[in-house]
Amino acid sequence: MFQSTGVMPQDTGARYALLREQLAALLDGVASPLSNMANMAALLYQGLPELNWAGFYLCKGQTLLLGPFQGKPACVSIPMGRGVCGTAAASRQAQLVPDVHAFPGHITCDSASASELVIPLLRGNEVLGVLDLDSPVQGRFTPQDQLALTQMCALLLDACDWEGGLL
Ligand code: SME
Repeated sequence: MFQSTGVMPQDTGARYALLREQLAALLDGVASPLSNMANMAALLYQGLPELNWAGFYLCKGQTLLLGPFQGKPACVSIPMGRGVCGTAAASRQAQLVPDVHAFPGHITCDSASASELVIPLLRGNEVLGVLDLDSPVQGRFTPQDQLALTQMCALLLDACDWEGGLL
């Protein structure tokens, strides 16, 4: 059973250090991408302040399909290159968006969302999907969030057996 101390550090660096440790423990010995993405989405949603959505979209051809997430039901299908997620996947670059309303083509799944951070999941040159975090607070995400979450995505990518299907 997953046990946390119940107290999340207020300091962002300390918080991410704890979340990385907790993620490593959750991933340990688990190869299923679906299980690992589900637990990572739950860990981030519970452990990071001011989020209204945390989850994954996965590449299927030229489309991103909704994967494991926490938050309100969301758009199922996003064309590659569209919206913040599609831009991150097509460009293979993280997208740190302080104000989603100023992002051309932003796709609104929840009108409460004000800022967004999307990290592409890269295995070599291949884009497997993206991690998407949404916040109701403008300017919620910083380069520190981007770096820490990129490191956590690397842990996820390493732990999973991507050849064996989603399960
Ligand atoms: N806002 C995203 C769509 C996904 S939802 O935020 C969960 C985008 O523009 O790609």
